[in-house]
Amino acid sequence: MSHPSQPEPTKAWSGRFSEPVSELVKRYTASVFFDRRMWQQDIRGSLAHATMLARQGIIGDGDLADIRRGMAQIAAEIEAGQFNWNLDDEDVHLNIEKRLTALVGDAGKRLHTGRSRNDQVATDIRLWLRDEIDVILARLGDFQGALLDLAAQHTDTAMPGFTHLQVAQPVTFGHHLLAYFEMAQRDRERLVDCRRRTNRLPLGAAALAGTSFPIDRQFVAEQLGFEAVCENSLDAVSDRDFAIEFCAAASLVMTHLSRMSEELILWMSPRVGFIDLADRFCTGSSIMPQKKNPDVPELVRGKTGRVNGHLVALLTLMKGQPLAYNKDNQEDKEPLFDTADTLRDTLTIFADMMTGIRVKPEAMRAALRQGFATATDLADWLVKRGLPFRDAHEAVARAVRMAEQKGCDVSDLTLDELKSFSALVDENVFAVLTVDGSLAARDHIGGTAPQQVKAAIERARARLAAD
Ligand code: ARG
Repeated sequence: MSHPSQPEPTKAWSGRFSEPVSELVKRYTASVFFDRRMWQQDIRGSLAHATMLARQGIIGDGDLADIRRGMAQIAAEIEAGQFNWNLDDEDVHLNIEKRLTALVGDAGKRLHTGRSRNDQVATDIRLWLRDEIDVILARLGDFQGALLDLAAQHTDTAMPGFTHLQVAQPVTFGHHLLAYFEMAQRDRERLVDCRRRTNRLPLGAAALAGTSFPIDRQFVAEQLGFEAVCENSLDAVSDRDFAIEFCAAASLVMTHLSRMSEELILWMSPRVGFIDLADRFCTGSSIMPQKKNPDVPELVRGKTGRVNGHLVALLTLMKGQPLAYNKDNQEDKEPLFDTADTLRDTLTIFADMMTGIRVKPEAMRAALRQGFATATDLADWLVKRGLPFRDAHEAVARAVRMAEQKGCDVSDLTLDELKSFSALVDENVFAVLTVDGSLAARDHIGGTAPQQVKAAIERARARLAAD
């Protein structure tokens, strides 16, 4: 029942104001066109709050029943695309509250007792981000699983490992892929950690100082699945560090995917030719009929800049704000939403792209013959025969120079030629100069020997399953 003595305000605060805002200011200050995507979280939070209010005797059981009924209808309207989102009502919170009041009258007006939009919005974002992190963790797991499947097919596939983009030493392609698994595993840890700090309840902080009503925050936290309540009301409504942390973790995921993208692009270049990417991740050129361009990895590299930018935007948004809530914080949502969307889509596409990589082992092996990749093995071999490492390094450097002048690999030099660099050389040396000998020799945890890579994949699968 509405109280006829009270004129219906057009705005939640309008009794205080003598002139309306201009159309432009209304548009400028409104957030409903982007924050309405938190409508489910907003309703969930309101229902938990209302349940607590009724349980504490702050509102009546009839009010609670009305609020529940009204919210059920609102949810149905939004889902059906029939909800009338209105710029005049500024944001998702006021839009829903206004509709609730239209549907159920006074109970709708009582919902905001002991609450402010400041703790309400902080609660909504945390609920939203918590759910997003769960989806993103699942997608990250899919990507890691796809990496392991590909690595398992290539535990013996030799390719050059690079430093300075120069051929350095032989590695297996499986080993190379496992490097990205490790990066992703740390990304996973960061996201799990960020989720813990996100999963705290701000409600109860009200505008900034708490509320004079006898609320039960613990009860609300339990209903919403929060691990704990935010301990300080001023902090609860004002800080967005959990969103910044998420963006930092997301930037690192994207950075890792961007590095891998750069490699895919290089490997797919006809000058390298280590892999081919499935057509569904590439596009042609509108003018050059022969082209097949690795658009997806290029876009991942590009979108990493966008996500990094969001991190900087949020850091900058926060840095000048005095306690407690300031409207600046409304600007947290678009960067946060876009970060989560970009990351989720990127991971989904990337996992699929792993299954669309066709490896060209012959090209990888051929590249190993272009960079004296087993020179270190020769040096190590001499050291094992008593030569100090620096002397061995020098002897091999001279052998490499001779091979370079002759236009061949070190393994193509004759025994006599090799002996001219060190009297310790004998015919057994040729075994260590082979690529497979070099790979097999790196036989310890974290090394590239095929049997180590196989074992590492098994451990990685177990770690992934344990999360
Ligand atoms: N739309 C606002 C936001 O996103 C909600 C909180 C507004 N609070 C206020 N006192 N103006 O932050």
